[in-house]
Amino acid sequence: MGKIIDGKAVSKEIYADIKTRVSSYKNKYGRVPGLATLLVGDNPASRSYVRSKIKRSEEAGFTSYHRDMDNSSTREQITGQIKEWNNDNSIDGILVQLPLPEHLRKDTASIMDTIDPAKDVDGFHPENAGLLARGTPRFIPCTPRGIIELLKHEKISTEGKHAVIIGRSQIVGLPLSLLLLMKSEYGNATVTVCHSRTRDISSLTQQADIVITALGKPRFLTAEMIKQGAVVIDVGINRVDDPAAKKGYRIVGDVDTEAVLEKASAVTPVPGGVGPMTIAMLLLNTLNSFEIKQK
Ligand code: GUN
Repeated sequence: MGKIIDGKAVSKEIYADIKTRVSSYKNKYGRVPGLATLLVGDNPASRSYVRSKIKRSEEAGFTSYHRDMDNSSTREQITGQIKEWNNDNSIDGILVQLPLPEHLRKDTASIMDTIDPAKDVDGFHPENAGLLARGTPRFIPCTPRGIIELLKHEKISTEGKHAVIIGRSQIVGLPLSLLLLMKSEYGNATVTVCHSRTRDISSLTQQADIVITALGKPRFLTAEMIKQGAVVIDVGINRVDDPAAKKGYRIVGDVDTEAVLEKASAVTPVPGGVGPMTIAMLLLNTLNSFEIKQK
């Protein structure tokens, strides 16, 4: 029986450390980190993520700024708000929650590119993506950074291991592949990235020491797909109907957790695994942005 990696507990330790640092900075610099969040449209999952991000940042002692824009907002209205925040010295981090509404999907990159790279705590700006690709990261995207921090905390070494990532998104799969490849203590892995066109994913995951699922398909990864003793990191957040649940749905990951636990050495649960780490890393990136400015 494998270990369940408790991301929620690890994130609590990180929050406690951030809170202490923020209160010492308040005395030292007379200011606390500021995080601005922008939500466009009415995607219920996005609304709930943004609410958690605001709540956690306020609990940590940050100043929080938020703007809710309706579904029909234009590209210019959104970039106008971003530029205002770019010029506001009390704001250290800017986050535009993705995905944007359907009519703005094609403009996603150009909208995100208007965020000042020095405030791009998501790490999606080409300058930050480039710094990561070059091996000298400034802001590391929150979910991949959270995964590396979890591996560190659990002392799961990646050096020389075969890591198989399922998913090639700009938010998770692609930046995570770069981090695992980096010449660093929790890098130096051999990395395979699978996606929707990959043939015979099973034959690849069966060779993996570490499997990371970030594809958004409930219970995609089964016990047959992994080797004995593998580490499984589940990034999926999927809503599945459940009439017995109060809200009528339940959140599950991309992994058939119960079955996989019989064979794996460690598995991150959903909820309570990678998710809480993502928000903790957003706060850490914002704190780092604040610290860079004080130098
Ligand atoms: N949507 C899902 N994950 C993320 C994230 O890490 N950042 C932003 N901005 N949007 C997201």
